[in-house]
Amino acid sequence: MTASTTQAGQLKLVYLLEKEDLEETGKQLLQGLRETPKTISPRYFYDVKGSALFEQICELPEYYPTRTEAEILKTVSSEIAAITGNAELVELGSGSSTKTRFLLDAYQQFEQLDYVPVDVSASIVEFAAERLFQEYETLSITGLIGTYEQAIAHLPDAGDLPRMLIFLGSTLGNFSAADSDRFFKQTRQSLRTGDYFLLGLDRHKSSDILEAAYNDSQGITAAFNLNMLEHLNDRYGANFETRNFRHRAIYNVPKRQIEMHLDCLATHTVTFPSLDTTIEFQGGESILTEISRKFELEQLQDNLAMQGLKTVKVWGDRRDWFSLILTQVV
Ligand SMILES: C[S@@+](CC[C@H](N)C(=O)[O-])C[C@H]1O[C@@H](n2cnc3c(N)ncnc32)[C@H](O)[C@@H]1O
Repeated sequence: MTASTTQAGQLKLVYLLEKEDLEETGKQLLQGLRETPKTISPRYFYDVKGSALFEQICELPEYYPTRTEAEILKTVSSEIAAITGNAELVELGSGSSTKTRFLLDAYQQFEQLDYVPVDVSASIVEFAAERLFQEYETLSITGLIGTYEQAIAHLPDAGDLPRMLIFLGSTLGNFSAADSDRFFKQTRQSLRTGDYFLLGLDRHKSSDILEAAYNDSQGITAAFNLNMLEHLNDRYGANFETRNFRHRAIYNVPKRQIEMHLDCLATHTVTFPSLDTTIEFQGGESILTEISRKFELEQLQDNLAMQGLKTVKVWGDRRDWFSLILTQVV
C-alpha cells in the first residue's frame, strides 16, 4: 500500500494483486487453453503495454464507443449528480479514468468527494490516480489494484454516503450472459438499499460499423490482441511467439457479440515452465480472446431488475449507438 495526503484529500493505492495465487490463476488459464475453441481471459490484455494500447484504441477514428460514451457523460453527469446527491464513486475497470472526469466535475459541488478506481492494471491506476489527485483539490482516492472480485471484497466503508458503482466502456460486454448475472450478484452484495449502479453499454448495430471498430486500419487492435501473449510470457515464463498468430475480429450477429480471435498460423508447442506444462497449437485453430456483447436494453434491464437493480433513467446518443443506464438498489 502507498499513501499521500494533502489538507483536503488523500491518495491511497492498495495492491491486491500481490495476494493473487499465480498457481491458481495459471490453472484457470490452462483450463481455457485446453477447451475447444481455446480461450484466454480478456484480463490478460492489460499489462503496462496493453493499457497504453487500449488508450490508443480509444482515440481511433473507427472506435466510436469511447467518444460516444464521453459525449453522453459530458451532457448528463450533472443530472446524475442531482439524482444521487453526494455519493462515494466506485469505478470498476477504471482504466485511465478519462471519461470519469465528467462525473468528478459534477460531484465536485459536494464538500467531500471520494473516488475508488479499481483495475487489474497497476500502471494505469497509478497514472490516473496521481493525475486526478493533483487536479481535484477535494478528492480522496483509494485505488484498488486487483481483479473485480478482489476489489469488491476490499471496498472501503462508504460510511453514511450512498455508493455509486460505475462500470463504463461497455466492459460488461466482455462477460457471457451467465458470467454477467454472476457479476451482478457479486457486485450487488457491495451495495445497500438506495445505492446506485451506473452502466455504460454498447448497443447492437450494423456489422460494418462494429467490425471496423475492432479491426482498425492502423493495426492497433491487432497489436493489443497479440500483446496478450507477451503478457502471458512475462507472467508465466511462457514462450509464445506472436508471429505464429494473427488478429481477427468478427461480429456474430445471432449472438450479438464481437468475437476477437488469435488465429494460429502454424502447428507448434508452447511451454509454461512455471506451470510445468506444454500446450499444443494446431495451424488453423484459433484462440477466443474476447467477446464484446452488444446489448438490447430491455433484456438487460430485466436481468438487472432480477438482481434488485431498478432502472432510474437511461440516456443515449443521437444515433442510439451507446446507452448509459442508472439503476438503484430497491
Ligand atoms: C475496456 S477497458 C475500459 C476502461 C475504461 N473504463 C473505459 O471505459 O475506457 C477495461 C478495463 O478493465 C480492466 N480489467 C479487465 N479485466 C479486469 C478484471 N478482471 N478485474 C479488474 N479490472 C479489469 C482493464 O485493465 C481495463 O482498464
